[in-house]
Amino acid sequence: MNQYAVWGNPIAQSKSPRIHQLFAEQTGKKIQYVAKLGDEVTFEQQLQAFFKAGAKGANITAPFKERAFMLADEYSEGCLQAGACNTLKRLGNGKWYGENTDGAGLVADLTRLNWLKANQHVLILGAGGATKGVLYPLLQANQQITLYNRTEERAVVLAEKFAPWGEIHSASWNAISKQSFDLIINATSLGLQGQCVELPSSLVREGKLYDMQYALNQQTPFLNYGRTLGAQFCQDGLGMLVGQAAFAFQLWEGVLPDIERVLLRVQAEMENRA
Ligand code: ATR
Repeated sequence: MNQYAVWGNPIAQSKSPRIHQLFAEQTGKKIQYVAKLGDEVTFEQQLQAFFKAGAKGANITAPFKERAFMLADEYSEGCLQAGACNTLKRLGNGKWYGENTDGAGLVADLTRLNWLKANQHVLILGAGGATKGVLYPLLQANQQITLYNRTEERAVVLAEKFAPWGEIHSASWNAISKQSFDLIINATSLGLQGQCVELPSSLVREGKLYDMQYALNQQTPFLNYGRTLGAQFCQDGLGMLVGQAAFAFQLWEGVLPDIERVLLRVQAEMENRA
């Protein structure tokens, strides 16, 4: 049985073991997938020991994606550009292949929603790790991206780094106030504190809102804020979570699970537990 795990800290609430169990049932693959608490100091040694014991792959979540990237020997283009890795696969020669499936998960979810139109204007809130992980696939999908971040310098740096791959620039609050966007994606970590970035209300009313975080009944702070300002189209990131997991599963096991079926199941289970 192929062994996998998701590594993070904290990790107890992770839905990944359940999602991969559902993928395995659906595809008839026999895998073992568990959640592992990464240690701030010894994460690298933990991962090395895990692979040495025979594991075929690992998912990596906060705060270890950059450290996992440093451990990989080979990379996909998207992972290389992101500089962060959410999926590792052990190759036949023992080397580690680094991939980042977060962006593919987001693109798949936007496609499912019919929210991905070529050349549309996308505003991304935040310029941290979550943003970095999705820029390359979004640019590959011909999205015209504006980055808005509290610390504008981080957005400037990211926009410059990704400029070779498509239309991307950073903007200040004043600049975004004068524009309109088809889609606004929250990639800040503020929701974890029950908060969100405030925006000009006209932007919120006109654009579709996507939150990379998720919550029961889509009640994330960002989406709740959007609804109070009159946003009509709001979507949380549970579909992205299932999508990134599905692309990791495909990399390891060679078959892409039906994302939507598993998403509906996970949603139903969250509701039943509430
Ligand atoms: P992650 O890996 O979750 O992206 P990160 O790299 O620490 O975490 O990035 C967090 C993002 O949320 C950043 O864009 C951060 O803005 P700064 O670059 O200005 O720090 C944003 N963020 C976090 N707390 C915030 C707050 N109180 N107000 C506005 N933005 C915030």
